Amino acid sequence: MTSMSSSARPLLNRRLAEFGTTIFAEMSALAARTGAINLGQGFPDTDGPEEVREAAVRALRDGRGNQYPPGPGVPELRAAVAAHQERRYGLSFDPDTEVLVTAGATEAIAASLLALLEPGDEVVALEPYYDSYAAAIAMAGGTRVPVTLRPHTTDEGPVFRLDLDELRDAVTDRTRLLLLNTPHNPTGTVLTRAELAAIAELAVERDLLVVTDEVYEHLVFDTAEHIPLATFPGMRERTVTIGSAGKTFSFTGWKVGWVTATPALVTAVRSAKQYLTYVASGPFQYAIAEALALPESYFGAYREDMRAKRDLLAAGLAEAGFGVFRPAGTYFVTTDIRPLGESDGFAFCRGLPERAGVVAVPNAVFYDHRDAGAPYVRFAFCKRIPVLEEAVGRLKALAG
Ligand SMILES: Cc1ncc(COP(=O)(O)O)c(C=O)c1O
Repeated sequence: MTSMSSSARPLLNRRLAEFGTTIFAEMSALAARTGAINLGQGFPDTDGPEEVREAAVRALRDGRGNQYPPGPGVPELRAAVAAHQERRYGLSFDPDTEVLVTAGATEAIAASLLALLEPGDEVVALEPYYDSYAAAIAMAGGTRVPVTLRPHTTDEGPVFRLDLDELRDAVTDRTRLLLLNTPHNPTGTVLTRAELAAIAELAVERDLLVVTDEVYEHLVFDTAEHIPLATFPGMRERTVTIGSAGKTFSFTGWKVGWVTATPALVTAVRSAKQYLTYVASGPFQYAIAEALALPESYFGAYREDMRAKRDLLAAGLAEAGFGVFRPAGTYFVTTDIRPLGESDGFAFCRGLPERAGVVAVPNAVFYDHRDAGAPYVRFAFCKRIPVLEEAVGRLKALAG
């Protein structure tokens, strides 16, 4: 009998060969085997608002969304997304032609790249980058051009910053689009108004499209401010903005995301999206429409809850001896392990469950320039306070 796998040609195609396995699977298996607290993956350990869950149950019982919803998303959700963008940012979108509901932000990213890239087009992306970016660029046949965020010392402690000159230099005649992420996973950096203005100017000058992943738009702390790139001059017509109910309402399993952009861009992205999932998450779309209309107090309380968790974990990590990049946004904190006498994040994370009963992720997996990411390790703080307290207590063993 001839086995397919005995063929000399690998089953996984060349475009995806480097994406065969992820560190998350390995780390989660390690967490399960050792009973370690999993601060590796970014999902909350409490569900979002009860009334939103109830809204999903109601939709399911009332037979709303149990069959294929409309391709662009149910009208209620498209209207709610448009109202949210208007209320919060003064951005006006036509719910019928300028909003597209997707299977999470992940599909929005993939569909955008599949729609907008020709093979060989270059995509400039901030490094470290959320892990689906590299795979989505590869699936679309694009070439990724990373621009590395670099550590800087500031009065508020160390932070990762974008070097605008490096960004400018990364753009060539082959660059089709910029793929941005702010607030930024894994560094917690929130791009400033001045940085966004410079990016906007560059995009206009070089006639680039921009896909901007703003899934942590509601998780910005202290004096940081989230400003959508689409609000800058010349950007409304060239920007695909991506949001996610998973991140904003703590229902990551529902996979409800969305795109806002011009009718032409939405039409292009929908062309790819319709052959990926066609539609997804029927009843949940109705529930998220209600969630987006929650009063400001919900968003404020969510932000405050995560800020308190950030403070707890950041302080605990500092006490345990890590260098801490206090995040201005997201629910991740990046640390430097060199103060602990370590330099290899992979080896450190593989040993951490045994040493301290905690799982973290080596930032190097989010880099093309692995050396640049080697000494950094990411912890998620979207967990219950007692879980974080227990983790902090365990991590103190490292300081000993
Ligand atoms: C930056 C970023 N973009 C997108 C996603 C995926 O969002 P979704 O679960 O809505 O697909 C994540 C999830 O961790 C993320 O961190």
